[in-house]
Amino acid sequence: MKAIVVTDQAAGTAGMRLVERPEPQAAINDVVVQVHASGFVPTELAWPSTWTDRVDRDRTPSIPGHELAGAVTALGYGTTGLSVGQRVFGLTDWYRDGTLAEYVAVEARNLAPLPGDVDFAVGASLPISGLTAWQGLFQHGRLQAGQSVLAHGAAGAVGSMVTQLAREAGAYVIGTGRAPDRQKALDFGANEFVDLENDALEDVGGVDLVFDVIGGDIQKRSAGLIRAGGTLVTIVGPAEARPADGLAIDFVVESDRAQLSEIVQRVRDGRLRTNIGNVSTLDDAVAAFNPTERRTGKTIIRVRP
Ligand SMILES: NC(=O)c1ccc[n+]([C@@H]2O[C@H](COP(=O)([O-])OP(=O)(O)OC[C@H]3O[C@@H](n4cnc5c(N)ncnc54)[C@H](OP(=O)(O)O)[C@@H]3O)[C@@H](O)[C@H]2O)c1
Repeated sequence: MKAIVVTDQAAGTAGMRLVERPEPQAAINDVVVQVHASGFVPTELAWPSTWTDRVDRDRTPSIPGHELAGAVTALGYGTTGLSVGQRVFGLTDWYRDGTLAEYVAVEARNLAPLPGDVDFAVGASLPISGLTAWQGLFQHGRLQAGQSVLAHGAAGAVGSMVTQLAREAGAYVIGTGRAPDRQKALDFGANEFVDLENDALEDVGGVDLVFDVIGGDIQKRSAGLIRAGGTLVTIVGPAEARPADGLAIDFVVESDRAQLSEIVQRVRDGRLRTNIGNVSTLDDAVAAFNPTERRTGKTIIRVRP
């Protein structure tokens, strides 16, 4: 099969190569999926799991990409709940070969059925950003209707999902980003927008939940805005700041079939809009990962045109 591999961490996306690899076999409780579309998070070449296995052994050449939509072609021993030919989408294991390939082996529990009226590219755009927003807001942030959320990077892949899900849950959402992101963030439902490069973040006043996708100084200043009993949720590494009277939570998204189904149902009935940025074929993907102009949203590779 065709697949994109990485071998050299220092080379970044420029070191990615399209090669021939053996098709994966389905292990216990796995399915093999013929990938129709794959999502890619630009930062994943900096994640240790792209380069080593769970006991820190080199696993290069490894295949990046952890989001997919496609069709099941084989079941491993003991696999239940999915069938050959079924349309699926989901989030694959960080430490296994990923989805920038024509086929991938993945544990069935990491996938959910993809309804027939949802395009594969849309399906592949949802798992990481949708699940991260869902888990950060509702599991870790315990968001309640009537609360206020500071949604950083609101025009980005995760931030646009945070903004929409928080609004739907009855929260007041203050989106942030760069100046050109204002209208996009408002279109995704932000009640107001803070341009982090030109506006004063501190003018926001108090919020109940900060959803941090940026880290550093912005995370620290945001922690200072959190009301008593509020929460800082961050997805960019161990929390570096803590609210004076509240919780700080960092987490890594996990796949969840029920949550994937909730998310795709919202896309079908119009409550949630996906946020797709660059789209390319597998052959052109390496160039697409090195874009010449700024474009916000999820990077999608149509593996099977
Ligand atoms: N822990 C987890 O489970 C998890 C899950 C998903 C994602 N992540 C991480 O979360 C981060 C965001 O992911 P994503 O897919 O949403 O990325 P994304 O689509 O690039 O969105 C991030 C947005 O924030 C903006 N932004 C970043 N720094 C900014 C700054 N200093 N001022 C103003 N705007 C700024 C970006 O604009 P520019 O592009 O112009 O910088 C972009 O619009 C990544 O680091 C990713 O690795 C973690």
